Amino acid sequence: MKKLRVVVLMDEDLVPPESLDGYSEEEVLQWKTEFDVLATLRDLGHEAIPLGVSDNLGVIRKNIVEWKPHIAFNLLEEFHGVAVFDQHVASYLELMKQPYSGCNPRGLMLAHDKALSKKILAYHRIATPRFAVIQRRRAVKLPQRHVYPLLVKSVIEEASLGISGESIVHDAQHLKDRVAYVHEELKTDALVEEYIEGRELYVGLLGNRRLQTFPVWEMLFKRLPEGVPNIATAKVKWDPAYQEEIGIETEAAEGLEPATVQAITKLCKRVYRVLYQSGYSRMDLRMTADQRVYVLEANPNPNLSYGEDLAESAAAVGVTYEQLIQRILNLGLSYRPRWYG
Ligand SMILES: Nc1ncnc2c1ncn2[C@@H]1O[C@H](COP(=O)(O)OP(=O)(O)O)[C@@H](O)[C@H]1O
Ligand SMILES: [Mg+2]
Repeated sequence: MKKLRVVVLMDEDLVPPESLDGYSEEEVLQWKTEFDVLATLRDLGHEAIPLGVSDNLGVIRKNIVEWKPHIAFNLLEEFHGVAVFDQHVASYLELMKQPYSGCNPRGLMLAHDKALSKKILAYHRIATPRFAVIQRRRAVKLPQRHVYPLLVKSVIEEASLGISGESIVHDAQHLKDRVAYVHEELKTDALVEEYIEGRELYVGLLGNRRLQTFPVWEMLFKRLPEGVPNIATAKVKWDPAYQEEIGIETEAAEGLEPATVQAITKLCKRVYRVLYQSGYSRMDLRMTADQRVYVLEANPNPNLSYGEDLAESAAAVGVTYEQLIQRILNLGLSYRPRWYG
């Protein structure tokens, strides 16, 4: 295998130390992905260096011009403190004609705007919860046909920011309050969706043209107290003590008919394609008791930590973490934006 020069782009605050020694679990969690990817690229024999980025494209340009990396491994989740700006960094890499890993700018842009991606899914008749967008500084006006309960979230935020039990609303007053919360606390437009009662499923995908899907993965809530909904709130995603308390486990979804698995797999590939994704991604789905599957969102460049859902579901079909990282590199190297000619 060819030894590559790989510049790993990451948030300036997340550049990991050389070794894990002396750091608490909590500290490691902050920059675990960055650490895992760098260490694995080196284990694979590549010359990999971290490049911390905050609000300056100049450091990227300097590295590209002077060090001439074969590929930039894109782990950026924001630029200048704004999450959706990561799409512009991918655009900049394309402007520099620099091969990079992960999703292309158009795919990032579409997925970051949940309302826009849902409109595209609707055009393709792909099931996604019915929704309305409530813009900031506008009156709350919902379509006539909405049915409670509804789930209120940010139209652009990720990582379940602002999602808690309170996000599910059963009446107009709570709806107004929660929309106000999203407007005022998260400072974004609010997405109001039909709440889908059911199982919480994830599917990892890899590819540019030919796509590979990993097994359907499920988040289980094994000790959820009565009356608490099984949704992936911020606390569920990020608080290890709470995860332990309510028995959060993610594993291969059990008891699905082969035909259902096939339908879900096909659905996820369609979503990947119609949202112009490339590299790797993870789809978030809900499945109702009568097996209707709804697409919540498509996550290009999802969490790539060792032991996280994507890596675990890949491992379940024999793709080791090293192989996963190498495949992502290869996909980045072979990706050609259509407009390059
Ligand atoms: N319409 C919905 N119905 C049921 N649960 C939902 C709905 N929207 C979001 N959720 C819950 O909230 C979680 C986070 O929502 P998601 O849209 O995936 O945003 P994020 O980008 O923060 O991950 C989901 O994994 C799911 O558990
Ligand atoms: Mg999600």
